[in-house]
Amino acid sequence: MKEKTKKLKLAVLISGGGTNLQAMIDHIEAGKLDAEISVVVSNNPDADGLIRAQKHGVPTAIVDYRNYGKKSLPEIVKGTLPKEFDEVVNRQRIYSGLPDGEVKDRLARLVLAEQEVLALLKPLNPDLICLAGFMRLISPYFIGHYNTKDRYRIMNIHPALLPAFPGTDGYGDSFSYGCRFGGVTVHFVDEGEDTGPIIAQAIYPIWPEDTVEVIRKRGLELEYAIYSQSIQWMAQGDLKLVSGEDGRPQVRILDPKYPKFIEQLTQQAFSR
Ligand code: GRF
Repeated sequence: MKEKTKKLKLAVLISGGGTNLQAMIDHIEAGKLDAEISVVVSNNPDADGLIRAQKHGVPTAIVDYRNYGKKSLPEIVKGTLPKEFDEVVNRQRIYSGLPDGEVKDRLARLVLAEQEVLALLKPLNPDLICLAGFMRLISPYFIGHYNTKDRYRIMNIHPALLPAFPGTDGYGDSFSYGCRFGGVTVHFVDEGEDTGPIIAQAIYPIWPEDTVEVIRKRGLELEYAIYSQSIQWMAQGDLKLVSGEDGRPQVRILDPKYPKFIEQLTQQAFSR
C-alpha cells in the first residue's frame, strides 16, 4: 500500500444481480482494493446483490423508488421537498423533451426517494458513492450532496465506450449497431446521463460469430477489473481532476502502472 493511500468508505447503489458489487467485495477481501463497503443500497427489494452483500457481512438497505411513483402529485408537493427544489428543476439535464409539469412531477418523485437514500448515507459519511448497475436516474439534488466543482465523489460503471451508447443497454446497443469493438467506461457522475468525466476505459473485440450474450460476458470481465482498479486509484490519490481545453473537467490518472494495466486487460479480452 502506498504511503498516501487512504482506505475508502464506500456506499454501493445497486438494482440487480450485483456482480460488479461482488467483484468489489472480492478485490477488498483479496487485499487489492483499499476500501470498505459501509452499505449497499438497492432500489429493488429482490436484487440478488443484496444477498451477495449479506453473505459477506456487508450492511444492506432498500429504498423502493416505486413507493414514490404511486403517490399523486399534490401529495408529493405537500410532502417534504427540499427548499432548493426549484433550482434542481432548473439545473436538471436528465429529462428532456417533456412538458415542464411532467419534468417537475418526475423530479419530485425522484428527489423524495433520494432524500431517503441520503438519510441512510449521511451518518456513514462515505468517501465515494459507487453506482453498480443502479438503474435509477440521479438528480442534481443528490449530486449536490457529493460533488463540488473540484471534487467528484460518485462513480459509475457503464457498459459501453462513452460517449457512444449512453443509456441502459450498452451491450445491446453496441452489438446491434454493428460495432467491431465494444467497451466499458468508468466515469464520475455529473448532472447529465452518462456524461461525467471519464476515468478509465477498456475495449473488447466483437467477432462475426458473437452474440450479445457472448459480448456481455466479455465486457463484464473488463468491468469487474477496471471498476475496482479505478476505486483503488482514488484510494491511492491517483485521480486528479483537471480542466480540459474546452473547460470541461477531465481526469488524469497518476499511477505509472496505468498503461500496463490497460494493456494486460486488453490482451485478455482479445485472447481467443
Ligand atoms: C453492468 O453491465 C453495468 O455496467 C451496468 O449494469 C450492469 C450491472 O450488472 N450499469 P451487475 O448488477 O453488477 O451484475
